[in-house]
Amino acid sequence: MYLSLRGITKSFDGVKALAGVSLDIEEGEFVCFLGPSGCGKTTLLRIIAGLETPDAAEIRFAGRDLTDIPARERNFGIVFQSYSLFPNMTVARNIAYGLECRKWRREDIPGRVISMLALVNLSDQAAKFPHQLSGGQQQRVALARALAPRPAVLLLDEPLSALDAKVREDLRAEIKDLQSRLRITTIMVTHDQHEAMEVADRIVVMDRGRIEQIGRPVELYERPANRFVAGFLGRMNLVRDVHGHALAGIRPEHVELCAGSEAPHERRTGRVSRSVFLGSITRVTLSVDGQDLTLEVQGRRDDLAPGAEIAVRIPARALVRLDDGLP
Ligand SMILES: Nc1ncnc2c1ncn2[C@@H]1O[C@H](COP(=O)(O)OP(=O)(O)OP(=O)(O)O)[C@@H](O)[C@H]1O
Ligand SMILES: [Mg+2]
Repeated sequence: MYLSLRGITKSFDGVKALAGVSLDIEEGEFVCFLGPSGCGKTTLLRIIAGLETPDAAEIRFAGRDLTDIPARERNFGIVFQSYSLFPNMTVARNIAYGLECRKWRREDIPGRVISMLALVNLSDQAAKFPHQLSGGQQQRVALARALAPRPAVLLLDEPLSALDAKVREDLRAEIKDLQSRLRITTIMVTHDQHEAMEVADRIVVMDRGRIEQIGRPVELYERPANRFVAGFLGRMNLVRDVHGHALAGIRPEHVELCAGSEAPHERRTGRVSRSVFLGSITRVTLSVDGQDLTLEVQGRRDDLAPGAEIAVRIPARALVRLDDGLP
């Protein structure tokens, strides 16, 4: 295994930020840490980078024990949310500086700077200072600076979250493209599920200092392990199993509601009491066998107006069993 983390724990003033995290990352993989604010994403990334000391951890990288290796010797490139460029240096100097610190041969540096600027489409901006660039351009410089020394791993902590929506989408496609061309092992922290789904080979879903599930985007979407993951990636209707009390989930696109139709054998019928259009989905509350059932279905459904008699079908194949943490 390329990068292997075992039993990482970290507390700040007695409060657990990481409660025993274990994870393996393969060479060339693009992994996202996804989770709500405060779940420990940055702390985990900083421990990998060597910028934070864990209380307990086993970290191995390319067969080597990293636990006691300081950050500057790990050869990991890092980009933070705030651009953190040197304000008094030009774009070119910002990139060159890290190479000088790493004792690159003087004659190799200008060529490397030029090719890194080309890589992030900023060849014409070399002589500018950071304050003369847009946020997206500054983040590209930060990327170029991180990649210049040929790091073994690229670590990105919410690199796009300070940018506005359009720039953010463009740059995330660019990061993905860069990563697949360079095939550099990359870990990106984000709390944006769309961002994670777009770029990641695998997503690590975190909550309260723990890993809830690790998987490819499609696996997490189709087979979420529990309620937290189901709700964090996309929308999920929660239903109780008819036979027991087990919790199950069904995505809006799999719920079948047909107004006014003859109910075939496998369907139940109900009457709509409330219906709200929310953009890509409609949320419908029905009374079925005297009980309220609220379901989100895909698209705009003017046919599901209050009072309408409808047939409900929840295909068993589309139901996902969810661990809701209850015994
Ligand atoms: N230097 C610190 N001192 C004290 N507590 C800290 C420190 N760094 C992190 N924490 C706490 O550890 C927990 C995890 O923080 P962390 O920054 O890793 O979360 P995060 O998932 O990156 O959140 P966000 O999405 O808001 O950036 C939080 O409860 C936070 O308050
Ligand atoms: Mg963070």
